[in-house]
Amino acid sequence: MSVERLAELIRERAPCVVLTGAGVSTESGIPDFRSPTGIWADVDPMEYGSLRAFQADPEKIWSFYARRIEMLTGAEPNEAHYALAELERRGYVRAVVTQNIDLLHSRAGSREVVEVHGSIRTASCPACRASHPLDESLLPLPRCPDCGAVLKPDVVFFGELLPRAAIDRAYELARGTRLLIVVGSTLEVYPVADLPLETVRAGGSFAIVNRGPTALDGRAVLNVDGSAGETLHELATVLG
Ligand code: APR
Repeated sequence: MSVERLAELIRERAPCVVLTGAGVSTESGIPDFRSPTGIWADVDPMEYGSLRAFQADPEKIWSFYARRIEMLTGAEPNEAHYALAELERRGYVRAVVTQNIDLLHSRAGSREVVEVHGSIRTASCPACRASHPLDESLLPLPRCPDCGAVLKPDVVFFGELLPRAAIDRAYELARGTRLLIVVGSTLEVYPVADLPLETVRAGGSFAIVNRGPTALDGRAVLNVDGSAGETLHELATVLG
């Protein structure tokens, strides 16, 4: 029933914008952050995921990130990613704004993907500012080929500003759609969690597809409590 209702909303309000979080990639074998089995259940985000921690001890953070990057590059898109790419091709989805750094939306064929928390595609040199492809051959401790400094992955750490162009585009998309659909996020982290509210401020509404509660359930026009892969696959089938 709720997938039918979501399809109805999309037909009325297309093209919609989709905002994804780690829950869209768990069916690719990538743990999320705040589920009981999530990454932050075992690792303190401030100890391994903050800019201050990276600046204090880059080698320690790379020991965590090198394993994470190997896992992410070994993962494959799942049916949630493929369904979103298909819905974009058919004109139902205008763009995907993602908090995920795993590149799976692009690899599944989505064309407009706004990576608001950066990605594992590149790493930058804190000394000479140059950006370099983050090739696995550089692991476990990527150094700048020009000056030898330890590179920083181009992902957003806690305490770090989001890439300006990406967050500006995300806000522009959120303002410009009548329906934003959140998939697989607790909506706990700002400023990204403000995007559904930006859609509402601009006169639109948002729906949530998530396993379990999110911080904005009470403000959503529809809540679908289910798995991203199954729900989005069924949605693509129902929309035809
Ligand atoms: N289908 C639907 N929902 C799922 C699935 C699934 N297959 N798997 C997990 N979920 C849900 C979880 O229950 C949880 O509510 O997805 C949500 C994921 O939430 P988080 O783990 O908080 O991930 P996210 O919202 O993306 O985190 C945002 O926090 O740590 C930072 O930078 C990190 O980008 C991340 C940000």
